Parts: sequence; C-alpha cells; structure tokens
Amino acid sequence: MTRPRSISHDFTRREFLSVSAGSALSLANLPFGGAAQPSPQISPASQTNSPFPRDFLWGAAASAYQIEGAAREDGKGPSVWDEFAHKPGKILDGQTGDVACDFYHRYAEDVAHMREMGLTAFRFSISWPRVLPSGTGRANQKGLDFYSRLVDALLAAGIAPVATLFHWDTPLALHHRGGWLTRDMPGWFSDYAAVVARALSDRVTHWLTINEPRSFIGGAYVTGVQAPGEKLSRAEYMRAAHITFLAHGRAVQAIRANAHRPAQIGYACDVSPSLPATDSAADTAAARESTFASPLDHFSGVHWWRENAWWLDPVFLGHYPAAALTALGKDAPEILSGDMETIRQPLDFLGANIYGGWLVRAGANGVPEPVPFPAGFPLTAFGWQVTPDAMYWGPKWLHERYQMPIFITENGCSSRDSISLDGKVHDPQRIDFTARYLLALARASAEGVPLRGYLHWSLLDNFEWQEGYTQRFGMIFVDFPTSRRIPKDSALWYAAVIRSNGAAASVASVRAVSWP
Ligand code: FCB
Repeated sequence: MTRPRSISHDFTRREFLSVSAGSALSLANLPFGGAAQPSPQISPASQTNSPFPRDFLWGAAASAYQIEGAAREDGKGPSVWDEFAHKPGKILDGQTGDVACDFYHRYAEDVAHMREMGLTAFRFSISWPRVLPSGTGRANQKGLDFYSRLVDALLAAGIAPVATLFHWDTPLALHHRGGWLTRDMPGWFSDYAAVVARALSDRVTHWLTINEPRSFIGGAYVTGVQAPGEKLSRAEYMRAAHITFLAHGRAVQAIRANAHRPAQIGYACDVSPSLPATDSAADTAAARESTFASPLDHFSGVHWWRENAWWLDPVFLGHYPAAALTALGKDAPEILSGDMETIRQPLDFLGANIYGGWLVRAGANGVPEPVPFPAGFPLTAFGWQVTPDAMYWGPKWLHERYQMPIFITENGCSSRDSISLDGKVHDPQRIDFTARYLLALARASAEGVPLRGYLHWSLLDNFEWQEGYTQRFGMIFVDFPTSRRIPKDSALWYAAVIRSNGAAASVASVRAVSWP
C-alpha cells in the first residue's frame, strides 16, 4: 500500500455515536465479558438482532507474497516482488518476503486458528509464479497441490475459500517480456486463470480477479515504491491500467469457461469515498459528486488515491469516465474495438477494499472542496486516519452507482502490537477501529445496501510491502523470528462478533477484552 499518510476526516466520533445510539446494534447483549473462549460453532441464523444478512460471510484476507514464504520452494518461479525486495533500499530494514509468515508450511495451524475464531470465509491469493513458474506454459503441479491442500483444509473447517488470482506478484519472466505494458498480458493472465480454475473450481466458488488495480498501478508504475519499482510516463501507466482491466475481463471469461461449478466472481477495488464534512444536504451532495469525479490531478502521484470512477466504471459500466478521458487527452489509453466489451464482464459482486476516505464540503455554488483534517485526529499506526463512515458512504454510493451487491474484501488497521508481560497481545485500537467500521457497515445494510460479507485485513501480521514487517495488521500476532502465532484480543472479540452475525460489534463490546 502506498496511500499517503493522511486519509481521513473529521466527524468520526460524532458519526459513530449517532449511529450507535440509533441502531439496534448497540442494544445487542454481549455474548462474552472478556473471559469467554471463542467457539467453533457458527450460528448466525439464530441471531435475531443482526443488521447483516443471514448468509453474510465473515472472514479475513491475506495475499500470497505477504504470508507464504517458501519463495524458492517446490518449483516456484520468481515474481517481481522476489527480485524487488532483495534490491538494497527498497524495503524498510532490508526485509523480504522470503519467509514472511511461513504460511506455506504452517497453513494447517492457521486454518485451525480461523476455525477457532469461527471465520466463514478466508481470502487468499494464488501466486501466479508458484503455479506457472515462467508465467506461461507448463503448470507446476506442486504449486497447484499447495492451494488444493489449503482449499481442502478450509472446507473441512467450514470456511469458504475466496481466491484472488492476482495480488501484485507478477511472474518476473513475464515482466521481462513486457508485463502489464504489453497486450499479450491479458492472454497470459487468462491462460493462468484457466489453469487455476480447472484445478480448484470443483471446490472454490468465490473468485476475485485483480486486487486493487489503483494501488497496484500506483505503487508499481507511478510512484515506483513497489515492485517492479518503475516510474513511467502518464501515457504508459494509463496504458498499463487499461491492460490490467483487459486481463480482468479475460480472466472472468476463463474462470466461467473452465469452472466445474457455478462461480461467484468479483473484482477487489480499493475505494476511498469522499465524506461529507457535515450532515448538511449540500455537503453530502458534494461528497457524493466528488467520490466519482475524475479531475486530472487524480492521474498523477499527488491525488492518485482519490480516484474511484476510473477503476470501477469500465468494469461495471463498460466505459471510462468521460471527464477522465478529456482530462487525460493524449495520455488516455488506446481503446481498440471490443476492449470495453471484454472489460465489462458480468460479475456477481463488487469487492471493495475500504480503509478510509477524504473529507469534503460544498464550496461556492456547491462545488466540492477538500476540508483538512483537524489536528490530533485519530490515526492508525500507519498514520492513516480513522474514518469509519467511509464504510457507510462507500458501500451506499457504490451500490447506488453500480447496482451490485457489495463484498468488503479488505478493511483493517495496523497497530504497534507487541507481547505484553502477561504473554498476551492486547490490541484495543484494532477492536475499536473494527467495531466503528462495522457499525457504519451495519447502517448501510439497514438502509438496504446488499452485502455479501466482510473480510478483515488481515488474519496474520505479515509483510506489508515496502514497510516490511513494521506494520502489524493481523488479528493474530506473528513473532517473525520464530513464526510463532499468538491470537490477539481482537481475534477473541471478532469471534464473538461472528457468532452474533455482527450484533456484538457494539459500543459495549469495545470494553477491555482479553484472552483468559
Ligand atoms: C491493501 C493491500 C494489502 C495490504 C493492505 C494494508 O491496499 O491490498 O495487500 O497492503 O492494503
């Protein structure tokens, strides 16, 4: 993630209180008081005061390079991240994902933790070069076998696998053949998708094609702080974006053509809504407009992470935002006949990774204008401001514009977790953060936004890209030198939330909770 450090807005606390006061959520009785054990039994249907749908999926998310390790094992080929992380000065403290959480060897232990927490879904990504070491050609059976074992273990634990095909670890061999800048890439990606679908779709029904195209292109090719670390011209990186969309479309076709069972396919987009600075109708209208506006400064490094429509409209509406095409002028990508039809494939849900939003108000004549965050505003350890109402306005406006069910495919926060003297890991900030965001999501649900699920980023502390191991996002602590796992207090809290199908994400539940 390369998001700038400040992404938030003002009214978090007020918003939170008004939501919780008016919502059945806050009335929920807590199923635990700090000493309860997580139960492996999940019975959401028995919860009558839940604001979420009965079949709502509760899970956690992770990605291959960030957790697997085993970077050169069992025939895996190198990805751009394997190379990039070993270049001096690229990753904080010179760390790499060579071992990461050692999930490749410890997945069974981690699935046992997931089961204990009562997760009903786990989102993982498949490492393209583990499956196809050179990106194309003969599949590496040992690589496929790993994912097959993982899927079996998840299903045996009652956890739905949600498989992402691409979470940024481009096969190095394909990068050298032009990678995301060549129109061969969608075909290569489609062939890879077909291999994976043939191997896993008898058991995997939930699929995500590409993770966060906006962040991916931004980190890889605009700022260059992520692999492969290139700073391209605007025309080039917008071309890479177009090719990424084409790869998405081709992969959807490949999954559907090869799936053994009906597939539920989505696309995991990072979305940062603009948030109204006050409750006024004018500010709300300005924030809504700004959420999908595409001014030229959204296509340079500075405000890159404010643009939403460019990354969603082609996939769900079949065209780029007209304002963006006009603004980009000669830097707009070349669109060949049939491209937009390929990109706009029928999908089953819109996957949204929502961490925060931007504060906006109505300026002169109602024109949206940014509002700075007040001093001392709550921040995560990363420096990202805590803006729970992004989880209300985001899903609401996404649904309004795209008419798709919304699946929260990532949300979470890093905190400075460590092992306390009592041997446990207390992470009250994560509990508070997650409760606030879930209350906001519950409000969207109560207002009729169709929701598929919520996947917390992340299950485990992991390799946070250029930040190395310094940003801990997990509900399970990882002691990296030994790979030992310790479920944090938030894991216990989340288990109670899941058991109640979200009703326990209440104000009261945020009081101290700790493992016995
Ligand atoms: C998201 C990425 C994920 C992780 C989180 C913190 O943007 O998809 O890999 O870095 O941010």
